[in-house]
This record gives sequence, C-alpha cells and structure tokens, in this order.
Amino acid sequence: MKTLITGVAGFIGSALARRLLREGHEVLGIDSLSDYYDPAIKRANLASLEHARFQFSHVDLLNAPLSELLPDIDVVFHLAGQPGVRKSWGSDFSVYTASNVDATQRLLDAASRLTTPPRFVYASSSSVYGDAETYPTPESIAPSPLSPYGVTKLAGEHLCRLYAVQHGIHSVALRYFTVYGPGQRPDMAFTRFISAGIRGEQISVYGDGSQLRDFTFVEDVVTANVLAATGAVEPGSVFNVAGGSQASVSETLEIIERELERPLRIEHLPPAPGDVRRTGGSTVAISAGLGWKPTIDLQEGIRRQVEWGLQSFSA
Ligand code: UGA
Repeated sequence: MKTLITGVAGFIGSALARRLLREGHEVLGIDSLSDYYDPAIKRANLASLEHARFQFSHVDLLNAPLSELLPDIDVVFHLAGQPGVRKSWGSDFSVYTASNVDATQRLLDAASRLTTPPRFVYASSSSVYGDAETYPTPESIAPSPLSPYGVTKLAGEHLCRLYAVQHGIHSVALRYFTVYGPGQRPDMAFTRFISAGIRGEQISVYGDGSQLRDFTFVEDVVTANVLAATGAVEPGSVFNVAGGSQASVSETLEIIERELERPLRIEHLPPAPGDVRRTGGSTVAISAGLGWKPTIDLQEGIRRQVEWGLQSFSA
C-alpha cells in the first residue's frame, strides 16, 4: 500500500510508520512539528524512520498542498491534531478547532475531489464519551464530551461520517483510549510519572487518584490502524480501541513504583477540569468488525514503558 500518515512525527504516528515500513508499505509522512511539546522529541522520532520507502514533508495541514500529496495514496491515516484534554480550555481552544476540525475538513475535502479517494482512518478519542452512562461503553451510546478537546475530536468524527455519506469517502474512526507505551508523549501521565520517578522528582496526581482509565498499549493501537486500512466495514464506521486493562491512576503508580524499584514522591492536586472519572470501552464491535483485540496487558505494557524510560530519562 501507498500510505499517508499525518502527524507522523508524533507518538502513535511514528509507531504506525515503523510498522507499515516493516510490513513492506510505502509511507509518505507529514507533520507540522508544532511546539505543543518539545519538537526535538518529534525530530528524534523522525530520525528513527529513515528508510528507502519513507518520505517526509514538513507541512501544516491548514495550508499543505494536498492536491499534490494525495494522488496515488491508498490509505490516509489522519493522526495529526492538537492533543491534550486538560489544556483545551480558554483561548487555546482556537488551536484545537483549527488543528482538529478545520484541518480534518480540509483533508477530507481534498480526498473527496480525487477520482479514486483513499481509505481514511481517523484518530478519534475516548474523550468523546465524557462520563458515560454505561461501562464498558459501546459506540452506540450518545457521545457527550466533558472537555473542549473532546468536542473537537467528535466534530472530526462527524466530518468523517459526513464525507462518507455525501462524498463516498471510505472513512473509519477509531476511538483510542489513553494510549501508552514506549515513546509516549511527554505530557501524558505515565511518561510524567516514570521520568519524575527516575529523577527523584515529585509526581503530581490530579484529584485523589481514583479516576479509572482503560489504558491501551501503542502497538495494539497500531494494529487497529492496520486492520482499519483494509477491513470490510461500512464507510463511516466508528470503533473503540480500548486496551481492556482498566485501572485507577493510583494503581498504575503502584505498578510503576514496583517496576522502578524505588519509592515515588506523590503530591495530590485538585481534580483537573475536563478529566473524566472513568473510561472503559466495549471492544465487541471492533472484535466483530475488524478481528481486533488487545494483546498487551497493563503490567507488561508498563514494564515496557519503564524499560524505555530508563533508557531515555536516566542521567
Ligand atoms: C489521553 C490523551 O492525552 C488524549 O489525547 C486522548 O484523547 C485521551 O487519552 C483519550 O483516551 O481520549 P488522558 O486519559 O487524560 O488523555 O491521559 P493521561 O494524560 O495519560 O492521563 C491519565 C490520567 O492521569 C488522567 O486522569 C489524568 O488526570 C491523570 N494525570 C495525568 C495525573 O494525575 N497527573 C499527571 O501529571 C498527568
């Protein structure tokens, strides 16, 4: 396959690119290298992708020459976006609407103008659910985001469905549940906990640590993308990609402490606005539709992330 990955320099984008290259596909990667977190981390991710079948274009989706980039592409994996649930309030919201809504619309629209539009795999988020009424939450429940970020990811999903219905784009939206593993973004919980633990720094926990997350290992998320690229599913489909290892933040800290074999220094801060109490996704639909199931449990996944952390953050 000839693939286009947006956000290729990011955590999930670079892991997906590595897998596709390993499996013999061509990858055209694009990324704006935005400064949401240190772009040096993104440049290091890119450096790990050196390959004869890999090409990189440093462009922003908001003004990229899409009519030049899209022809001949079989599958677009649209992972670019402004991440982060807790930073999406206030004046930052315009960055979220531009990166998550406008950019998605621009990409879908350009794809829809091609004679043979590519398959379109969209990175959505468990944050579209907010505090759901049912656990494990099925895709059929009415989404009700609790953060401005979740609102923009849901808008992106609606655009995917709209372009499927109106313009024949074969889109598939994947709702990722708190993705972790080696290479995780530096603003996310496990990377912050592990790096602070290694450096002997204080760890800040929002609230009492009893909030639950359905953590999903990055290689399982990559597999879901690969399956969504070719799976026989309806255009406009939406699937949860949920790791099946629900745990509280406090429980994850206990595992990290055991893996690091040193005590963690933990302080509690007030709960963060936009943070949901619990996520837990049903995987019945993705298992039936794409034959996907998670393969790495939380214990093993954290062990691998700690191993990576020890190489990356030790003095
Ligand atoms: C993550 C990603 O950041 C989002 O981009 C993604 O869309 C979302 O998952 C999702 O699943 O929809 P989040 O669940 O907040 O969002 O992931 P983490 O940043 O790893 O946080 C996990 C939990 O740890 C949250 O309850 C958070 O409040 C807590 N946390 C995080 C802390 O207590 N302290 C920290 O320093 C960081």
